[in-house]
Amino acid sequence: MTPLPLLIDTDTGSDDAVALLLAGASGLGDIRAVTTVAGNVPLPTATRNALLSLEVAGATHVPVHPGCERPMTRPLISAQNVHGEDGMGDVGLPDPVRSSDPGHAVEVLLDLSRRHPGELTLVTLAPLTNIAAALLRDRDLLSRFRHVYCMAGAPDARGNVSATAEFNVWADPEAARIVLEAATPDKVTWIGWDVSRKDAVMTPADQERLEAIGTPRAEFVHRINRTVAEWAREVTGLAGYDLPDPIAMAVALRPDLVTESEQVHVDVALGDEVRGQLIVDRRLSAPPPNLTLARRVSESGFKELLFATCAGALQPA
Ligand code: BDR
Ligand code: CA
Repeated sequence: MTPLPLLIDTDTGSDDAVALLLAGASGLGDIRAVTTVAGNVPLPTATRNALLSLEVAGATHVPVHPGCERPMTRPLISAQNVHGEDGMGDVGLPDPVRSSDPGHAVEVLLDLSRRHPGELTLVTLAPLTNIAAALLRDRDLLSRFRHVYCMAGAPDARGNVSATAEFNVWADPEAARIVLEAATPDKVTWIGWDVSRKDAVMTPADQERLEAIGTPRAEFVHRINRTVAEWAREVTGLAGYDLPDPIAMAVALRPDLVTESEQVHVDVALGDEVRGQLIVDRRLSAPPPNLTLARRVSESGFKELLFATCAGALQPA
């Protein structure tokens, strides 16, 4: 199988880093560019972490382009309480050897999608600010990708950042609204936090397996998710820490891992009390679907992909 040409938009915190590793080191992805945005951490930190993660993935040829440093209309409220002050578990990682590349993320999204129509798969792991800003310039942006996969939303209204909202949509709900207005279900798939909570939880046994693999990549994944593990224990009550961005990346690389999905009309709430909550309209009289929602993913398929990537075993071609 030819590796999938990818453009990845990320606010690189500790789980984005694992997603970048899957894309860059599984043998399934061919990352053409990474764009960064403010979200989990401020923009310069997200960019630094993306560069560092690509080094660990052995993908130092991939250009990294910083983008928007704040949401469309709101101040940035980061998730450093979850991912650590440095977004990578505060374990004292060294600085990356490279710097970011010239060219604003929004220009890169527009330019690469125009130069390679229908070829690139866009994977977003962050607030949708860069994508919305590009859509304001060109409403046909999404149609020029082969497919667009977004880690976004909590379609069951069980949130992580608030009672009912998922961080990426909550952080910039106006950007999410712009993306939803331009989306079509044949082009755009969202993988919400519900999937992460059900099918991507690293249990104590999984964490031990990761440690036992013992490669630099496995050690990297284990160490940087230290603060997320604490947060998950205290806030979510899950049987371990969850990996939202990696399971979204796994769906992009291996769509066959999806076991349940639906096509439905989705909007986003912008008011203060319900900020970022998804409004999933399943009435017969609902507007036509604008999204495909992945609802369940093969947990074993996802974890085998993760462990194999950490072990350095490339996926079969
Ligand atoms: C999303 O927010 C961040 O914490 C993760 O990186 C992921 O993109 C999950 O809600
Ligand atoms: Ca992220």
